[in-house]
Amino acid sequence: MAMSKDKLRFALFGLGDFGPYFLPYLNEVAEVVAVCDPSAAARARFVKTTGLPLPAFERPEQLFDSVDVDAVAITSPNFTHKPLAVAAAQRGKHVFCEKAMALNVPECWEMVRACESAGVRLMVGHKRRLRPPWARMIALREQLGPVLAINVARYWNIHHYNFPAWWEREELTGGLLAVSGVHTIDWMRAMCGDVALVSALAGPQTDPKYSYPDTLHVALHFHSGALASLTVSLHYPLLHFRESGGPQVVCREGGMRFLPYKDHLDLYWQRMDETEAHYERFDDLGHDHAYRLEVVDFVRWINDGREPCLTWREGLRCVEVMEAAHRSAQQNGAWLNLPLYPELEAT
Ligand SMILES: NC(=O)c1ccc[n+]([C@@H]2O[C@H](COP(=O)([O-])OP(=O)(O)OC[C@H]3O[C@@H](n4cnc5c(N)ncnc54)[C@H](O)[C@@H]3O)[C@@H](O)[C@H]2O)c1
Repeated sequence: MAMSKDKLRFALFGLGDFGPYFLPYLNEVAEVVAVCDPSAAARARFVKTTGLPLPAFERPEQLFDSVDVDAVAITSPNFTHKPLAVAAAQRGKHVFCEKAMALNVPECWEMVRACESAGVRLMVGHKRRLRPPWARMIALREQLGPVLAINVARYWNIHHYNFPAWWEREELTGGLLAVSGVHTIDWMRAMCGDVALVSALAGPQTDPKYSYPDTLHVALHFHSGALASLTVSLHYPLLHFRESGGPQVVCREGGMRFLPYKDHLDLYWQRMDETEAHYERFDDLGHDHAYRLEVVDFVRWINDGREPCLTWREGLRCVEVMEAAHRSAQQNGAWLNLPLYPELEAT
């Protein structure tokens, strides 16, 4: 590992729920030297809870004018990802951005183009596929053959949780799937490859405070031929957040069944030529491993050019699927072809 003086210097944008939680992972391989959040309360809470007396700024340009940084980590609300990433790229800073990459595909391409022109790296944090229990299902395709179908129900009761108000607005989040489903869609892409066609139907609205449908049924048709169904509802009394979303997977040579609980995860899998299922229990939900892998790879990508576990591509394609599903739901389930914006694709 590089000596302290050689460590990359990061600025952290967004000091709400996730930013301070993510910061220690960055500090394991780099050094967060400044922070930025427009909320004075968030900046004060940051110093109080972390004990880190870092220079803290209200606006990004103040930070960039005052502190020399190599890279930024963006852990602010989704609607701020594009402007912050573009501003950082224009100052020549590498960009690590949390999911969802942005509100829509044109915003994602703007981020990509800004980083390309500046010659800086751009990675989007999609931890789900990197968490060992979920990565295990990706690896099990070796034994079970290619995926034919996946079924995931993300039915849970959001009323148990105290989410910030911006999560309720489509124009600030990007819609329901950016709130619940974004991780599943990225993992489905890791299992099945690129999506060819998307259709979605919205259920009747249960809570008018959300500016987007709070129940959605999404069908994905992959180029591989695989089909996936993702159903999401924020209005389901029987399950909490961490208990929902366990996939059932049909493969050419067998199947997998994944059951999430709040404190552990159960995975069952079996080949068609076997009489009993294999059972694997994961007591470690695997978040630490995934966050470490993301930041280690991002730093190595910058320092050594080594191919990372994720780039911006996963982030952009995930936003594309979500945008297509939200648009299809407004068109009564019309099947939409991807890419959604062929005119913006790289030439
Ligand atoms: N990968 C994961 O596991 C994971 C988990 C949680 C959240 N996230 C992502 O992290 C992001 C933040 O989520 P959260 O739950 O912490 O939200 P939050 O509302 O708790 O915190 C967001 C913070 O960003 C600040 N902010 C607003 N505009 C800003 C700007 N222009 N520049 C800097 N800061 C700004 C807010 O004042 C607030 O303090 C979201 O994109 C979310 O999807 C990822």
